[in-house]
Amino acid sequence: MLAIEIIEKKKNGLQLNKEEIDFMIEGYIKGSIPDYQMSAFLMAIYFRGMDKDETSNLTMSFINSGDRVDLSGIKGIKVDKHSTGGVGDKISLIVIPLIACLGIPVAKMSGRGLGHTGGTIDKLESIEGFRVELGEDEFIENVNKYKMAITGQSANLVPADKKIYSLRDVTATVNSIPLIASSIMSKKIASGSDAIVLDVKVGTGAFMKTLDEAKELARTMVDIGDSLNRKTIAVITNMNQPLGREVGNANEIMEAIKVLRGEGEEDETIVALTISSYMAVLGGAIKDFATAYSELSNILRSALAVDKFKELVLIQGGNPDIIDNPAMLPQAKYGIEVKAKESGYVNKIDAETIGIAAMLLGAGRRTKDAIIDYAAGITLNKKIGDKVLKGETLCVLHTNKEENKEAIDRALEAYLIKEDIPEKEEYVYEIISSL
Ligand code: URA
Repeated sequence: MLAIEIIEKKKNGLQLNKEEIDFMIEGYIKGSIPDYQMSAFLMAIYFRGMDKDETSNLTMSFINSGDRVDLSGIKGIKVDKHSTGGVGDKISLIVIPLIACLGIPVAKMSGRGLGHTGGTIDKLESIEGFRVELGEDEFIENVNKYKMAITGQSANLVPADKKIYSLRDVTATVNSIPLIASSIMSKKIASGSDAIVLDVKVGTGAFMKTLDEAKELARTMVDIGDSLNRKTIAVITNMNQPLGREVGNANEIMEAIKVLRGEGEEDETIVALTISSYMAVLGGAIKDFATAYSELSNILRSALAVDKFKELVLIQGGNPDIIDNPAMLPQAKYGIEVKAKESGYVNKIDAETIGIAAMLLGAGRRTKDAIIDYAAGITLNKKIGDKVLKGETLCVLHTNKEENKEAIDRALEAYLIKEDIPEKEEYVYEIISSL
């Protein structure tokens, strides 16, 4: 086989078979296929797309490039969740204890964030002492005993995706549905779960800017799950403004605790309950979505969920006192109030711009090795639909940095204030599944 012939075939819009896809991925990992041929191959996929069989073969080829996590030591149906990425997205922190309350095992492997704000692992590290790297035995033992554990992704999980993602990042080929779908699903399947609930974000702060694109990505991932025998449900949710009011790390932990106490904002509470209800159904604990939603809402109103989060913090070595006293979490030296320049109603808050502002304050990474300031972040005092008077505080920037002009400008630029009252947006748009 020759790489040039396979690239040519895809360039002409023809279907590739399993052997051809394996040849390209294995060759790239071994080094026999250079960056320039892989770049041309990715660009051909970007323009010509891939059908169902090709996408599922590409996912399998990714999975086979590295280790697979063996979770067979965990009793019960293991359900995972994955978000395609958003700003202020603290849903995993809420869902893990909530689902564990039902006795469904949650064996969560999470990544760190790059750019914008941190990932779930970064957020948890803002809790003093919290260990985010568990050995396989401890991870499995904790899930069996407490029904929950969270750890960082093992270094050799889907190395082909790691190498190809870096190349996509610099060749303008990130935004391709078959490439995103196979990248996400390969990591989920290699992590060993039996069933997967996907939170596919759509809006200004998401990869997918339109509902049609988000539906296509969701359908592609559900099809991959079906073809590889993993029950998969995709929930399409709104990312036209950050979720909740807190964007950062320690402040997102604080907000997740509020949601677990039943005192969260409407958007994040509804998204968390929707995702966890589908997890409860796939995990076999509850027969239908409506019953799951009502049971999980009751759990949020009781002290059960927050107590379970306290248990998670304790078993992973963190200080559980932060739950009752969140002021013990890292606090920033400065709180800069960003004031409205005009009166009206908040019509838009560009989530991506808020994410960049938070990163500039220290809450995210500019480069892979940058160090996160857990205390940095943004509190949104005003959200879409809120009335604002000129001079009122739109948001507060938390930072330890002395110079924050760029972050202030970005935060202000993120807000669109107009005279008219915007229509109320939906939080959950659609459910995609073959079940
Ligand atoms: N997240 C991933 O893991 N991969 C992509 O390609 C895009 C988002």
